[in-house]
Amino acid sequence: MRQTDFLVIGSGIAGLSFALKAAEKGKVLVLTKVNNADETNTKYAQGGIAAVFDPEVDTFEKHIEDTLIAGDGLCDRDIVEIVVKEGPDRIRELIDYGANFDKDDDGDYDLTREGGHSEKRILHYKDITGWEIERTLLEAVEKNPNIEILTHYYAVEIITQHHLGQEVKRENTDTTCFGIYALDVNTGEVEKILSKMTLMATGGAGHIYAATTNPVIATGDGIAMVYRAKGKVRDMEMIQFHPTSLYNPGSFPSFLVTEAVRGEGGVLRDLSGREFMYDYDERGSLAPRDIVARSIDAEMKKSGEEYVYLDISHKPKELILDHFPTIYEKCLSLGIDMTKDYIPVTPAAHYLCGGILVDEEGQSSIKNLFACGECSSTGLHGANRLASNSLVEAAVFGNRIAQRALENIEGVEFNVKVPEWDEFGAVQINEEILVTHNLRELQRMMSDYVGIVRSDFRLNRAMRRLQMLKEETEEFYKKSKLSVKLCELRNLILCAEMVIKCAQMRKESRGLHYTTDYPYKLGGKPENSVL
Ligand code: FAD
Ligand code: SIN
Repeated sequence: MRQTDFLVIGSGIAGLSFALKAAEKGKVLVLTKVNNADETNTKYAQGGIAAVFDPEVDTFEKHIEDTLIAGDGLCDRDIVEIVVKEGPDRIRELIDYGANFDKDDDGDYDLTREGGHSEKRILHYKDITGWEIERTLLEAVEKNPNIEILTHYYAVEIITQHHLGQEVKRENTDTTCFGIYALDVNTGEVEKILSKMTLMATGGAGHIYAATTNPVIATGDGIAMVYRAKGKVRDMEMIQFHPTSLYNPGSFPSFLVTEAVRGEGGVLRDLSGREFMYDYDERGSLAPRDIVARSIDAEMKKSGEEYVYLDISHKPKELILDHFPTIYEKCLSLGIDMTKDYIPVTPAAHYLCGGILVDEEGQSSIKNLFACGECSSTGLHGANRLASNSLVEAAVFGNRIAQRALENIEGVEFNVKVPEWDEFGAVQINEEILVTHNLRELQRMMSDYVGIVRSDFRLNRAMRRLQMLKEETEEFYKKSKLSVKLCELRNLILCAEMVIKCAQMRKESRGLHYTTDYPYKLGGKPENSVL
């Protein structure tokens, strides 16, 4: 058993930004499920972090407008204003912690552009911005005596009144988080960790799909845990497919080719070499992601092939090598010289716009439980996230949540009545194939039926298949000793179920949700899908 003032699940930008602030007032324990604390979606961010940094040409109003347009009517304007206006200060803090962002010859930040942005406002470090941010935050955390990181600790369940034998319903307003049960992956034991304030910062759920840019940690654990604990979740149908992952059959996860390639002049071409995006949108290859991904999907259906081309070969070699050294090397390793050749690309699941419903200070519907970063739904992204708006959202909310948690922690006591984890009757079952088979089936089914283009028929079929997978997996879970793979499968299945349910609730096409049965937008103020 352990206890801590602040418990943080996740060591990406969301968890670490919060931890550094919370440590001013108490002890912080950060859990991360893998052995390397830096193995996060954050580390793989390429394009950069968006904020108004050139007031001569850019304004808060323009960034707000771009975010609202991309969000297709479903953003919460107040939240958009908060993130856009507080973003620059949070980025300056990252710079103070030691983060490097590229500068031009005059010493100004070399701002780049991505789809849906009306101005250049993306700060970046080469094509490995996330790596640089994660490095900086981890170094700052490691120097802080009030923060401890436990690696290879897998959060299994949120502890609430349910574990004290009381009935907990989703409509209750007094459900309270007392901490979590976590699996020590090295010993196989489940530990009770009590906390006064808990932050879910577990990232996205890309692995519900067969093709994703997300690293293996992105299995929707936090969202599933909150839902099982009877917390509220929102907008799960809004799955962002990145238009340009590198087409490289057999490699999983998919390697991303940043949107900044298009921001620097790259264009999409069909298999005959014709630039096709103007057939679909007047913004061409720099239209928002939902439109570009759907257009590529349509082109692939026309040609019968699984890719289109991205071409930046008309730009100077120095620019390409300077901006995109990692992508250049990766392509070269596959025999593609992006300074001369077209790059084959294909859409892949990339970002979850929905998640744990939180208020403007990151408070979830469960008391003393906050959520931040990709696992949360703040209202910033609406029906489609604007490129490079997620790192900045996590930095802004990490700070806001810390302020609120610091105020709220006074008077909160540890709940010492919480029992130890009950593993009675569970046995070690050496049948990993049951887990890997069901995972593959889930991913294939979600990609085929709940992808970029949906229909009632496909969603209903997906739900039926999913229920079978769910029953089998739940039965297996009840009998078996816990394993990370089994828990992740269970969480992915629950997230997939939420995606399908939300998709079935939306009887229109909006943002990232496109269905052939309702290919239009409903009038009036759009509703969020809340579970
Ligand atoms: P993550 O960084 O994913 O961290 C999640 C943490 O939770 C990890 O430490 C993980 O181990 C831990 N965890 C999960 N489950 C458990 C559990 N059960 N128990 C214990 N620990 C757990 N966004 C931008 O704004 N700009 C970009 O340029 C950009 N590029 C991207 C490129 C790629 C390839 C990808 C995949 C995403 C990109 N994004 C970008 C999105 C952005 O990187 C993520 O949304 C953001 O980093 C999420 O941060 P996070 O802290 O919420 O989660
Ligand atoms: C990219 O670099 O294209 C990804 C940016 C993002 O997901 O915000």
